[in-house]
Amino acid sequence: MTLKEAEKRLERLRASVEHHTLQYYGLDESEISDAEFDALFQELQNLEEKFPALRRPDSPTQRVGGAVQERFRKVTHPMPMLSLGNAFSADDLTAWQTRFGKLLPADTAVQFVAEPKIDGLTVVLHYENGKFSLGATRGNGRVGEDITDNLRTVRELPLRLHGSQVPARLVVRGEVYMGIDDFAQFNQRQKELGEKVYANPRNFAAGSLRQLDSSITAARPLRLWAYQIVLAEGISIDSQSGALEALRAFGFPVSDENQVLASIEAVAQHCETFGETRKNLPFETDGLVVKLDSFSVQERLGAVGNAPRWAIAFKYPSQEVVTELLGIGVNVGRTGVLKPWAELKPCEIGGVTVSSATLHNEDYIRDRDIRVGDRVAVKRAGEVIPQVLRALPELRDAELPTFHLPKICPACGERAIRVEDEVDVYCVNAGCPAQLVRLVEYFVSRTAMDIEGFGIRQAQLLTANGLLADVGDIYSLQASDLESLEGYKERRVSNLLAAIATSREQPLERLVTALGIRGIGRVVAQTLVENFPSIDALLVTDIESLEAVDGIGPILAHNLVDWFGTTHNRAVLEKLRSAGVALAATPALATSEALDGSTFVITGTLPTMSREQAAALIREHGGKVTAAVSGSTSYLVAGESAGSKLAKAEKLEIPILDEEGLRKLLS
Ligand code: IVH
Repeated sequence: MTLKEAEKRLERLRASVEHHTLQYYGLDESEISDAEFDALFQELQNLEEKFPALRRPDSPTQRVGGAVQERFRKVTHPMPMLSLGNAFSADDLTAWQTRFGKLLPADTAVQFVAEPKIDGLTVVLHYENGKFSLGATRGNGRVGEDITDNLRTVRELPLRLHGSQVPARLVVRGEVYMGIDDFAQFNQRQKELGEKVYANPRNFAAGSLRQLDSSITAARPLRLWAYQIVLAEGISIDSQSGALEALRAFGFPVSDENQVLASIEAVAQHCETFGETRKNLPFETDGLVVKLDSFSVQERLGAVGNAPRWAIAFKYPSQEVVTELLGIGVNVGRTGVLKPWAELKPCEIGGVTVSSATLHNEDYIRDRDIRVGDRVAVKRAGEVIPQVLRALPELRDAELPTFHLPKICPACGERAIRVEDEVDVYCVNAGCPAQLVRLVEYFVSRTAMDIEGFGIRQAQLLTANGLLADVGDIYSLQASDLESLEGYKERRVSNLLAAIATSREQPLERLVTALGIRGIGRVVAQTLVENFPSIDALLVTDIESLEAVDGIGPILAHNLVDWFGTTHNRAVLEKLRSAGVALAATPALATSEALDGSTFVITGTLPTMSREQAAALIREHGGKVTAAVSGSTSYLVAGESAGSKLAKAEKLEIPILDEEGLRKLLS
């Protein structure tokens, strides 16, 4: 291939890859299969490697990141970023109209644009001659940080503007955010890997964009909405609705929820409807931004102080409440981690009474200067456990003592230590009763050994009566042991013993999960078992061999070697072995070709497994799992709170399964 031919081919490949990427991420549908896409991408990559002179910064291959920086350069924005006044009711909207109305000639006709107020991270995007040249954070509104390398990895961000009428210079504002589903999935994975868990999608998006190593950003599912043109040289646009259209034509993702409205009454009506709509959107919004459409009207009105007169933020009552922090309790988790939690003066949040909330860890409390006796802001979002967001120290009447986690375990009195580089404090006592209860609870749980009729109550009862010193003892429980316990009649005893006996044959990945090794959840356990098909293999392996496994990093490798090297744990494994618990993977009977060639999309919350577990199950049986519903989807597996994917599957008449349906299909 000559240089000229390569150039031509590259041009077409880039355009094609960009086109399909946008289809996939922007429109949630794809015209080609994942394999076809991979082939196109591969060809592009190969050709660029062969002709490095033709490599360009705006090629989609550059979205995978790689540039690493020491720190971010400062960027001064072409126009300072203002903030917005708030409205909370229809009356506030009318009052706003009255205020700006006084400053306009009596017969001025106005029209409004209402846009979702996206809860993400504001970015400023610069294009020179149609090419993405600079991207910055908001910073303090005047000066932000240069995060160009990171933004390049955001797949919805056009690296090159579309269309023939491209301005010589264009500056756009938008919001980088993370979808609610993506956030939940990614956080779950972080948790399983023993890595940082983020409090909300916004923090996650912010943390992801401010990575010095852009390949980390590239691995995060960040998305973009564009909503404002700050500057466009050589083209004329005279309204916000025109700007939104232009942005769309340039190839930016622009929300379909944006609406042009003819009167303030129509705006108020829309605010009311959107209050419901927003609950089903795949991203978080806390309100609407209402703008006057005409740019000449906007200019005429100008700004007062720091806020423009021509726009206002309509905000919904938040799921946030201020209450008193009565105390900070400390629980001991199954790995011995000391978990601080807030004891609150009971308050109502979104119709539910809340009297406790999570405080995550000691750093979280210290960074926010949260003290017992403080008024604190508490938030409850959906099903999530309530969180203490911050303290309001300005409401403190007197000096309050700062909080420190105890240096001894509140359950057993042994030393509690903070491991270097980790945020958590752990009880060092492997025989700690609080740890044991949690460990037993986890061992028997549905994700682990799945022993029916065994839960936290039984775990507490049995350990308190000295019947369990570790999880190995579960299998030597006798009828006579149980019959002495209150409420345990013959039938109940025999049911429990039968459930325990059956669990001996659980697949190895369940046992590995059940051991409760730090950072080893179902997904990692599955990977481990694929590479080390017996407990004996795990007992003799080393850090190096573990790290060689895809998905196992140095921290997990360390945790594993530590765990299997501890005398106490080895003794527990021997107990399990002599009790007849299966310590090796059964030859691959579980897997099959039942789903060969079928493509699945999973959405919503399934009753007993995570989406990742469902995906693993499908793959084990020869099926494929993709992110977006399209014509080539064979089945949609839908759980609770399924949203747009479900609607789309219904439209395309794709068969829809619940978890049980999926299990049936597998058997
Ligand atoms: S326009 C003059 N439109 O909300 C201010 N802002 O308080 C112009 N935001 O952090 C802002 N969605 O980045 C505008 N559709 C939207 C928005 C939006 C989110 C953010 C904005 C800023 C804050 C404004």
